[in-house]
Amino acid sequence: MLIAGGQTVLTCIETLDQRFQEADLFYGHGSDSSWDEAVFLVLSACDMPLNSGDEVANVTITASQAARVNDWSRQRVVERKPLPYVTGKAWLGGTEFICDKRALVPRSPLAEIILKGFQPWCHSLPTRRILDLCCGGGSLGILAALTHQEAHVVLADIDEDALALAELNIAKHQLERRVQSVRSDVLGSVPLQRYDIVICNPPYVDTEDMSNLPPEYLHEPNIALASGDDGLDFTRQLLAQLPEFLHSESLVFLELGNSWEHFENLFPKNPITWLEFENGGWGVCVLTNAEVEELARALA
Ligand SMILES: C[S@@+](CC[C@H](N)C(=O)[O-])C[C@H]1O[C@@H](n2cnc3c(N)ncnc32)[C@H](O)[C@@H]1O
Repeated sequence: MLIAGGQTVLTCIETLDQRFQEADLFYGHGSDSSWDEAVFLVLSACDMPLNSGDEVANVTITASQAARVNDWSRQRVVERKPLPYVTGKAWLGGTEFICDKRALVPRSPLAEIILKGFQPWCHSLPTRRILDLCCGGGSLGILAALTHQEAHVVLADIDEDALALAELNIAKHQLERRVQSVRSDVLGSVPLQRYDIVICNPPYVDTEDMSNLPPEYLHEPNIALASGDDGLDFTRQLLAQLPEFLHSESLVFLELGNSWEHFENLFPKNPITWLEFENGGWGVCVLTNAEVEELARALA
């Protein structure tokens, strides 16, 4: 057995860190190092707060905690599950969400712009209507509701499993009065109103990237990732349908990841504004209502 009852928290973390390095894991689901994942796994398995400091380093763990650490590290190393699927929890923008394989692991750089109140882009205050299209487990829309107390938020997704998880997260954050979820293929069943802000982290992985995904990503729903040869199948449909959901001051924050170059190539005559992030991330653009109308016309 790798870890045994009676070992200290620090010893467990060091052992797992070593094991994760030897296994050459891929870190793309909310942490970026073997050490961070080892800390996260051990503290979670021992039900200790994640902001614990040196005071827990020499605490000894029980036999049942050790068994849990061993089981979870096996799932991470042998099965290559993303750690949030193992622990059942994910953090985005400092907020905790229930996380499992029904939806993508929350990690979108859009969280940063939500926490900044969509500044410096958003001028129409207060923000009252927000749409999180392709909501998955609901993390982005819920973060928007938590940071915009006057807003009503619609979470939309085509996947019923993802929406069931989103409902759990709405309840976890007691947002039933201001956040509703709806099953919708693109915008087909989204309540028809003019949204101040649309957040969208759609499937955008192109065929080439899909064939080279690290094993960790194969645990995530395929429908959350793949979007045709150039990764823009969903986005083309979105742009065609979006104009009637926007008003003159609306803003759309659209994540396209590695497919941002395909997007530029699709619209060679339209300058696109790409956002820069302090906490990492790329491939997110902001579009005004007028820009969305132009792009929709270019596609027609
Ligand atoms: C990249 S995931 C984003 C999940 C979540 N917003 C996040 O940031 O963690 C994309 C989501 O789009 C949904 N989706 C895929 N095709 C769709 C469609 N045609 N209409 C609506 N949602 C769709 C998937 O079910 C998945 O939950």
